[in-house]
Amino acid sequence: MKAVTYHRYGGPDVLQLAEVPTPVPGDQELLIRVRAAEATKSDCELRSFRYSVNWFWLPLRLAVGVIRPRRHILGMYFAGEVVSAGGRVTGFAPGDQIYGCTGLRLGAYGEYIVLPGDAAISAKPGNMTFAEAAAVPLGGLNALHFMRRAGIKPGEQVLINGAGGSIGAHAVQIARAMGAQVTAVDHGIKEELVRRLGADHFVDYTADDVTTVDRSFDVIFDMVAGSPYRNLVGKLRPGGRYLHGNPRLSVLFRSVSTNWFTDKTAIVTFAPESRADLAALTEMIEAGEIQPIVDRVYPMTEVPDAHRRVETEQRLGAVVIAIDERDGRQP
Ligand SMILES: NC(=O)c1ccc[n+]([C@@H]2O[C@H](COP(=O)([O-])OP(=O)(O)OC[C@H]3O[C@@H](n4cnc5c(N)ncnc54)[C@H](OP(=O)(O)O)[C@@H]3O)[C@@H](O)[C@H]2O)c1
Repeated sequence: MKAVTYHRYGGPDVLQLAEVPTPVPGDQELLIRVRAAEATKSDCELRSFRYSVNWFWLPLRLAVGVIRPRRHILGMYFAGEVVSAGGRVTGFAPGDQIYGCTGLRLGAYGEYIVLPGDAAISAKPGNMTFAEAAAVPLGGLNALHFMRRAGIKPGEQVLINGAGGSIGAHAVQIARAMGAQVTAVDHGIKEELVRRLGADHFVDYTADDVTTVDRSFDVIFDMVAGSPYRNLVGKLRPGGRYLHGNPRLSVLFRSVSTNWFTDKTAIVTFAPESRADLAALTEMIEAGEIQPIVDRVYPMTEVPDAHRRVETEQRLGAVVIAIDERDGRQP
């Protein structure tokens, strides 16, 4: 089968289209034909091994390969079709259209993947293309987890820092669906995108400092490494919740002190990837509460360009790779 592979850490050009053996499923596994995969910030970070947050550098490097990557095919989020289901797999049959996560197996930049029968996969939303659906699991699962942890009540003021990214763009929509008033912070080029997704207010971080706006918040969801913790927590109302999805080590320590000594709550967490949450996202998408956020679709031959677009942050939404050429250049 064809796959985009990498054999050393480095810039986008370490990614190469290659012919590799098609994986063979066992009787508790599914063989899946990948139609589209999201090219994420995390894929770029795994490829280059450059992180804006450094505290997990060593454990992660030990996990994925000290000298060179142990797994040669990137890609954690995809949409595709079940080719075959092992005898001990229940709930899926050949031809099912699905979307989901490969977890630490990676591999979604290849034409076929094998996943355990209980992997975090679910029926693809009927009203999305494969390219659109591939752009959902990363942002949607993280945003759903954080917005639920925030315990948002209708009418609350929610600030989303990094609202134009994969996770932030889903958080804007989910917070709105929960009845919140949303203030989105990101680069000015993303204002139209996040307003279309439901943001009520927008702050361009390149022009204005959100910590000086004349408004306070019940919830702040922060995806930006190195953001000003004390100033942002200072924008919370009494009983307010601050959630960080991309924390530096200092945020971990400061969140303990916020929780002990103030009437505010700081939450630092990682989102689990579950089938139940994916099914909840499918329902929200089919109810029109979550819209597609695809910026561009690239063919497998242009994956280095797809990574460059993610890294230079010019994108308006998610960058997707069409693993099957039927899924083309456009969403
Ligand atoms: N906690 C978890 O469970 C979890 C899970 C997955 C990923 N992550 C990590 O979380 C990070 C974000 O993920 P993502 O996929 O959503 O990334 P992303 O798509 O790159 O989104 C980040 C957004 O933040 C914007 N931004 C940058 N600096 C900003 C600032 N000072 N103020 C406001 N906005 C700013 C970026 O815009 P510009 O740069 O264009 O200006 C971009 O739109 C990644 O580093 C990823 O590794 C955490």
